[in-house]
Amino acid sequence: MKKIGVFTSGGDAPGMNACIRAIVRTAVYHGIEVYGIRRGYNGMIKGEISKLESYSVSNIIQKGGTILRSARSKDFMTKEGRKTAYEQLQKLGIEGLVAIGGDGTFTGANIFFEEYGLPTIGAPGTIDNDLYGTDYTIGYDTAVNTALDAIDKIRDTADSHDRVFFIEVMGRDSGYIAIPCAIGGGAEIVMIPETDTSIDYVVDTLRTGWSRSKTSFIVIVAEGDAEGSATEVANKVQEALPHMDARVTILGHVQRGGSPTAADRMLASQLGIACVEGLISGRQNEMAGIIDGKLTYTPFIDTITKDKPINPEFINMVNILSV
Ligand code: F6P
Repeated sequence: MKKIGVFTSGGDAPGMNACIRAIVRTAVYHGIEVYGIRRGYNGMIKGEISKLESYSVSNIIQKGGTILRSARSKDFMTKEGRKTAYEQLQKLGIEGLVAIGGDGTFTGANIFFEEYGLPTIGAPGTIDNDLYGTDYTIGYDTAVNTALDAIDKIRDTADSHDRVFFIEVMGRDSGYIAIPCAIGGGAEIVMIPETDTSIDYVVDTLRTGWSRSKTSFIVIVAEGDAEGSATEVANKVQEALPHMDARVTILGHVQRGGSPTAADRMLASQLGIACVEGLISGRQNEMAGIIDGKLTYTPFIDTITKDKPINPEFINMVNILSV
């Protein structure tokens, strides 16, 4: 393999730059030319592709976001879009791809591989940690720490005013971000899509807390929870508890930015190397990940279709620790 391309796609995640750096440096180390594809699949279709050198990735390991930019591409979902993308890659003689992203990215990569057979290896880059085939995704640790930092600050003001805060965290359909935020942030309640936490349960828990002289509460609501957004949950609870002094905080995209933690830089570097070395050794249509400390390659189709269940013990931990 002489030439490869690298791109980031979907929601950005802290550590994507560290991963790009590792990919470029590993390719250069092995004498392979590497091309950066800008704005994910959109840039692939438009031919926004340029050669990267070792120096192109200097001084980026500590930076959030992605120097290659990112996008969620509608055009790549069409046959014509993928055909144009393939032709752009062929023009440059690109023989392999490294895709950094989440389930949408790998869904696209899987279809593209089935249609054109271009060897592709993925690095899991998403704050959601919702991909089967790796214990942790790049960006997850940073996002959780960013959220936790905000939750600590909210607790200060919640405590000063005897308030109940409903804090919404990201994660799309998964509670992976919510769980460590709740345990680490000392929350009284966590609401995640994977389990049913009813409004009645929230109301009862608050009442019990007040009866035990608790004065402030943190309720972590994963954005995909079945009871709705943090605002909807707060409104429903307020109906049952009209005297509750409640506030809602939606942490939002703050969770996507910032300098990656040491754990994310390590993971991104390790997986970046694994992607390029995987391609060199003939691997294709798989995602590199770390499971129980071991480097693993998992078919794209499994990463997007198989479940990575949350340990139910963690939910119980929130209940025990908030008694
Ligand atoms: O997948 C990462 C993520 O941040 C999710 O947690 C969230 O639901 C979504 O992306 C938000 O997407 P966008 O940035 O397109 O609004």
